[in-house]
Amino acid sequence: MTKTDQPRVIIFDTTLRDGEQSPGATMTHEEKLEIAGLLDEMGVDVIEAGFPIASEGDFTAVSEIAKRAKTSTICGLARANFKDIDRCWEAVKYAKSPRIHTFIGTSPLHRAIPNLTMDEMATRIHDTVTHARNLCDNVQWSAMDATRTEHDYLCRVVEIAIKAGATTINIPDTVGYTAPRESADLIAMLLARVPGADKVIFATHCHNDLGMATANALAAVDAGARQIECTINGLGERAGNTALEEVVMAMKVRNDIMPYRTGIDTTKIMNLSRRVSSVSGFPVQFNKAIVGKNAFLHESGIHQDGVLKNVETFEIMKPSDIGLTAKNIAMGKHSGRAALRAKLKELGYELADNQLNDVFVRFKALADRKKEVYDDDLIALVADEQTND
Ligand code: KIV
Ligand code: ZN
Repeated sequence: MTKTDQPRVIIFDTTLRDGEQSPGATMTHEEKLEIAGLLDEMGVDVIEAGFPIASEGDFTAVSEIAKRAKTSTICGLARANFKDIDRCWEAVKYAKSPRIHTFIGTSPLHRAIPNLTMDEMATRIHDTVTHARNLCDNVQWSAMDATRTEHDYLCRVVEIAIKAGATTINIPDTVGYTAPRESADLIAMLLARVPGADKVIFATHCHNDLGMATANALAAVDAGARQIECTINGLGERAGNTALEEVVMAMKVRNDIMPYRTGIDTTKIMNLSRRVSSVSGFPVQFNKAIVGKNAFLHESGIHQDGVLKNVETFEIMKPSDIGLTAKNIAMGKHSGRAALRAKLKELGYELADNQLNDVFVRFKALADRKKEVYDDDLIALVADEQTND
């Protein structure tokens, strides 16, 4: 199968809605516009820009993002009532491609909150999806807490939403409770049992409470889901959402076993990760997959030697694939002579063997005291060496 024949997975980014909902991650209006612009340029298919009824600020941000979007579909969130849906439409209608996303909690615990019977909830879903569809051709319906909803009831309400005109059906793992096999089985079960399921896109929306959001999303895709909902850096409430960079790079690097394509320009990932971290105030953990500071750093001598001889020895993807141009070798106490020579060459120094030996001895002494030896430290060591000569 050539790459272009592979099923296309829609990337739905919710950094500005579910991500921004994370306590303390609030972004300013200007910051939201900047992030939306970068997501659009990166090739994100759908940007969930906010929750228009939540505040005047959210409404204005969603409308402005909708007006500016070049290629992405712009989506707003709405609860299952006409007022939310109307407000959402007022904000997204400016987009070249608008989407209304309406949701309701379908599990027993969530049904108890509005105190609706199963039948009353089914009617509410029918009425609200129909209302949304009368406003907009592109309607997404989500069964919040789907992974803890009784299968028979989930099938029933998904069928109602499809018949009422939903074009995307989202199956969220709202509390990060599912596991990969169950995530796949749930999508397969819905595709097999719900009449009309083949006419809509199924989406997966995972939270990371048990650290399985990426695995659960990819398992859902293997079972037939064709939209992944995710955020940059996995930003989101509690342990966060599926990280966009992880699912996209997993499908790229292991395309042999996950033969799906996306429209994402992966070389824009690193810049977006840094901007989202900076504007949300949420630092990226050093060892975070793909975008962590250490994700491409090789400090141990054995690794460095391998990487210097052939990068594929310890690297499964290239730093440039995600737009990382910084040098990928960190110098520390485990670094060997070959790595030091290569690093100095990068910094513009080619030392004779005896000079390199001297610098290496002093570098090791320094590395014993410091965790990481920076370029400036090495430049100082070489300068010292050259003065003493
Ligand atoms: O996690 C969730 O269920 C959500 C819905 C609003 C889609 O974010
Ligand atoms: Zn969510």
